[in-house]
Amino acid sequence: MYPKFLLLGRPLHHRPAKDMFDSDASRRLLAYCQAHSTPPDPRLNELERHTYLHTLHPQMLSGPLQGRFLTLISQIMRPRRILEVGAFTGYSALCLAKGLAEDGVLHTIEVNDELRGILETFVKKAGLEHKIILHVGDAVEIIPTLEETFDLVFLDAGKMDYLRHYELVLPKLRAGGLLMADNVLWGGKTVLDPEDETARALHAFNEHVQADDRVENLLLPLRDGLMLACKKP
Ligand SMILES: C[S@@+](CC[C@H](N)C(=O)[O-])C[C@H]1O[C@@H](n2cnc3c(N)ncnc32)[C@H](O)[C@@H]1O
Repeated sequence: MYPKFLLLGRPLHHRPAKDMFDSDASRRLLAYCQAHSTPPDPRLNELERHTYLHTLHPQMLSGPLQGRFLTLISQIMRPRRILEVGAFTGYSALCLAKGLAEDGVLHTIEVNDELRGILETFVKKAGLEHKIILHVGDAVEIIPTLEETFDLVFLDAGKMDYLRHYELVLPKLRAGGLLMADNVLWGGKTVLDPEDETARALHAFNEHVQADDRVENLLLPLRDGLMLACKKP
């Protein structure tokens, strides 16, 4: 059986319906992990609260544990250029931006213009207006227009489009750069429910990365599953 405690860090309300990972054991393990990780700063907590009060699908936000992981990776890499695909209200962008180099910039792409107000308000509160650039539109159209070489990429937009986004972004990732893709286990359905359409697309994505000679990869069972792919020299 698939161990219930694997998806640590997944928000408890990640899916509307109770699912196979929503157990007392996974809740307690998550609470323990969060209690033994550096907590988010108050601004991130405020953004999380604001997102839950003012958006329809607040569970899309990365949350404290994955947010801390994104910050840690970024702080280790000190990237000059980050690309995020799928900004939502800006939680993960703020986490990733904490590691930017002095002259670093994070580009983030969001198709829903209604989210612009929240993101810009919280980016401003964090004093990062000059470091976080929001592009409103479809990632498939915007990625090709970005004339940058990225050190770090976070894919977190439409799950059916991951393969396309990956193929558009990989040529723009520097050798040694890291790409991370969120939700690749899709609440366990990628493994346990092959009939689910999104699970099928994510399985195809995971298979594609696994077979890709250009990268070395690791599928981490953090939260909803995070694929890490490092571009070979
Ligand atoms: C899971 S949420 C992102 C969460 C955010 N990265 C975080 O952790 O706080 C996915 C976002 O991608 C956006 N999105 C979906 N399809 C997109 C596309 N084709 N291009 C750009 N953004 C897209 C959605 O509107 C949504 O806000």
